[in-house]
Amino acid sequence: ARPKVYVTRIIPEPGLSMLKECCDVVVHESKDWPPSREELLRNIRDKDALLCLLTDKIDAEVMDAAPNLKVISTYSVGFDHIDIPEATKRGIYVTHTPGVLTDAVAEFTVGLILAVTRRIVEADKIIRTGQWDKPWNPYFLTGPELKGKTIGLVGLGRIGVATAKRLSSFDVKILYYDIERRWDVETVIPNMEFTDLDTLLEKSDIVSIHVPLTKETYHLINEERLRKMKKTAYLINTARGPVVDTEALVKALKEGWIAGAALDVFEQEPLPPNHPLTKFDNVVLAPHIASATIEARQRMAELAARNLIAVLKGEMPPALVNKEVLKVRPLEKVKM
Ligand code: GLV
Ligand code: GLV
Repeated sequence: ARPKVYVTRIIPEPGLSMLKECCDVVVHESKDWPPSREELLRNIRDKDALLCLLTDKIDAEVMDAAPNLKVISTYSVGFDHIDIPEATKRGIYVTHTPGVLTDAVAEFTVGLILAVTRRIVEADKIIRTGQWDKPWNPYFLTGPELKGKTIGLVGLGRIGVATAKRLSSFDVKILYYDIERRWDVETVIPNMEFTDLDTLLEKSDIVSIHVPLTKETYHLINEERLRKMKKTAYLINTARGPVVDTEALVKALKEGWIAGAALDVFEQEPLPPNHPLTKFDNVVLAPHIASATIEARQRMAELAARNLIAVLKGEMPPALVNKEVLKVRPLEKVKM
């Protein structure tokens, strides 16, 4: 018998075809909706492999429901929706899709920075609502120029580096904070400086978040840290919503501790249409689409499929999250 695979959403080609070539595949036949908890628990029971999205919470209960499960391949770079220690303990390989969406997210981050500082979304709304009712004037919809400003990157992984590369062409100074100093990057990108987080927040005109969500980064940007930012500074988040304390951010915007924000991720997704964040003209909102290029989404599907198939073949997957699992359950070919 061929290995059994559950896929929690219709993902782009060639991902699905690759899986179907070598496995018996059950797909949750929807482009829009994840399976319910019951559907997930029922479908996972006899499966060797799971291909999930960031909308599926994969915890001990799911793993216990699937005694044959050998690999959890997520169609995302983030893996905060998966309980990694529980997977490792059970000898389940967890894989993700780094690299293939780096450029898409970096491009989007630059877009958000320009959108919020140059007030592009606000400007569009002004025309559509008939408020462009006076001739050209020197003060209308002005915002800060990027050139010469300081941009602070919180987290300098793949996406942080790709963002820094793009931003350096704007002749800005770049500060970064990470758990490790990236000498290799500093030698390639000019005008970069390593600082502690508080200094970064105090000095930056734009603060952009590029850390994964972990216990350590949960509410990393809290009230105290938002208070350290300049009144003229902007906060950009394309990483994960819970890295920022939303309540504190709303307070910061209401009381003018910062100049604005551009957000692609939220503590609650979807963000309710009447959420306090929707009330500010100086906030640009996007529905978790930073990786949404046609190219990235196709490559993510391909990499997620390659990861999954590799583990079933007993081969090292291209992007393994929990390396320690190799000691718990060595790679071994499943009948294919
Ligand atoms: C998107 O948020 C991802 O983690 O890939
Ligand atoms: C994640 O950090 C990526 O760029 O793939």
